[in-house]
Amino acid sequence: MAKDTFYITTPIYYPSGNWHIGTCYTTVVCDAMARFYRLAGKDVFFLTGTDEHGQKIENKAKEAGVTPMQFIDPIVADLKSIWQMLDISYDRFIRTTDADHVATVQKIFKRLHDSGDIYKSEYEGLYCTHCESFFTEAQLVNGKCPDCGRDVHPEKEESYFFRLSRYADRIIKLYEDNPEFLQPKSRVNEMVNNFIKPGLQDLCVSRTSITWGIPVEFDKGHVVYVWIDALSNYISALGYGSDDDSLYRKFWPADLHMTGKEIIRFHAIIWPAILMALGEELPKRVYGHGWLLVGGDKLSKSKEDKINTELTDPKEIVSRYGSDALRYFLLREIPFGSDGVYTNEGFLNRINSDLSNDLGNLVSRTTAMINQYFGGVLPAFTELTELDNELVAMINGLYGAVTKAIEEINVPKALTEIFKLVGRANKYIDETTPWILGKDPTKKDRLATVMYVLSEVIRCSATLMLAFLPKSAPEILSCYGIDAGDKNLFDGLTFGKLAAGTEVVKAKPIFPRIDIKKELAEIDAMMTERHKAAQKAKKEALTDKPKAEEPTFSEIAIDDFAKVELRVALVTSCEKIQKSKKLLKLSVDLGYEQRTVVSGIADYYAPEELVGRKVVLVANLKPAKLCGVESRGMILCSDDGEKVSLVAPDKDAKIGGRVR
Ligand code: ME8
Ligand code: MG
Repeated sequence: MAKDTFYITTPIYYPSGNWHIGTCYTTVVCDAMARFYRLAGKDVFFLTGTDEHGQKIENKAKEAGVTPMQFIDPIVADLKSIWQMLDISYDRFIRTTDADHVATVQKIFKRLHDSGDIYKSEYEGLYCTHCESFFTEAQLVNGKCPDCGRDVHPEKEESYFFRLSRYADRIIKLYEDNPEFLQPKSRVNEMVNNFIKPGLQDLCVSRTSITWGIPVEFDKGHVVYVWIDALSNYISALGYGSDDDSLYRKFWPADLHMTGKEIIRFHAIIWPAILMALGEELPKRVYGHGWLLVGGDKLSKSKEDKINTELTDPKEIVSRYGSDALRYFLLREIPFGSDGVYTNEGFLNRINSDLSNDLGNLVSRTTAMINQYFGGVLPAFTELTELDNELVAMINGLYGAVTKAIEEINVPKALTEIFKLVGRANKYIDETTPWILGKDPTKKDRLATVMYVLSEVIRCSATLMLAFLPKSAPEILSCYGIDAGDKNLFDGLTFGKLAAGTEVVKAKPIFPRIDIKKELAEIDAMMTERHKAAQKAKKEALTDKPKAEEPTFSEIAIDDFAKVELRVALVTSCEKIQKSKKLLKLSVDLGYEQRTVVSGIADYYAPEELVGRKVVLVANLKPAKLCGVESRGMILCSDDGEKVSLVAPDKDAKIGGRVR
């Protein structure tokens, strides 16, 4: 029989700046779920990747003076190295610049065009360049982008549109028929009331002003715009529409699209509508998680230079405290579905209390006592007391409780369940006082039972921790000679499976205790120092601006200058010279006479811009014929090699007045 499959995805990340612990959140949560279901025997496909097209990337690359690919590649490599460091077990890392994705998106676009779901029109709206989103007036917050708070500006261009409006009723029905589809449930009302009920607008799905995107095959001036490109990754990654779509047939529909709450509407409205239009099955669940906040803000790649003394660089946190510590914090501290807060103090407290104290102590005390009292060999248990049976019941119920929490996509709850048992076991040590039992040879059997019960707590909880703590859980299991790579570990999650006689190695400290006060002072000093250095560098960069190159020229005497007759003139009319691209023909009034002047500024000024303006004229220049028009004089302009700008008298100056 074919194995049960589980297909889970993270959003694809914008490679637009520095990665931070907030960006790790979605992926670490998905990884924990992917690992859990693999251990539970499912055939899992875990997808993540990068969303590489669009205006923002195009702009940033230009700013950096490189091609978009040159800009993106190192950022993507950096993200992959973070995923490796955090033990992210993805099955594919898709890049929207991958050839197979590009081909699939082009096919999807054409299919939707052929079916009439995509049509050509003109878009007019308020656009946020940063978020690559159009908004309606009503969606703005204080006149600014509702997602990032930046300015928006009106924009208009020929675009293809996806007939999203057609699908409003079917989306509402989707939520009604499948209460599991969108979670947490509060998000359903948000979608219906804020987006669907006010009326779904058709969606702009191509742009002509952007070049960094997937070309629309049948209309070359257009590139596919954001959401059809980005969302399609979930099926292009499985070979949808390609010669080999076996993965698609095996894994689609997705069991879970995990996304941050700010992009739920794309996943819960637009994506199902696209799939409906394609006639494909819909994902089973979309989950919108909350944000990790630092200093009251959602961490974001563009706010990276905000001042704070919190550690936000995942590499730095991992190098100080280990990857499992960061994973544990992200998985445990953020109430699922709501926002959570990172502070150095909160992080260190969490690691110390749960990992170092509760888990670390249980493992080190138990394995040390087995070595001390039983020569490092696990004894058999004899009679179970009521107290023992309380723990046995907890052990036997743990797998079910954790599985239920994972099925509800409540990862913090899964960890709470495990650590409830760990905490209970530590209390059990205090209650059974093995160090007293160890002194009394008649209590050897009782001591043996206590050691066995504790060992079963450790085995079962560490086995269930494998999905969350992929470095330390195997280390704990190895004290009991258990190979974490064994595919059947989840089959033995009931009390009594550990064989008496098993050799037990004394555990090394897994999570060394941190002196929090000292550590916080150290981080504070380091971050303050770093902030000062950054500010200093910024200041220096400003004052060290490259100086304009010093020009070389020969001097003239004042008499030489006096030979040039400069006069204020008023432009009375102006027109383009048809035969020339650069030349304008101006009529100017000098007070005492009218003249015709030709000027090569058509690239910089429209004729109507000049009429009525006062300019400075070289009045005694020998007449010259330009494109058949006689020019009597020359208008002064500044010219820095890039821009040309008219020189004009600052205050009211009489027409015909001298300039000297
Ligand atoms: O939105 N706390 O990409 P992205 C929690 N390319 N999660 C956070 C976070 C924080 N402080 N900051 C970011 C995009 N994230 C699109 C998606 S999908 C077809 C296209 C999460 O790089 C965020 O919520 O802005 C999202 O789930 C993920 O990082 C990628 O965000
Ligand atoms: Mg985002």
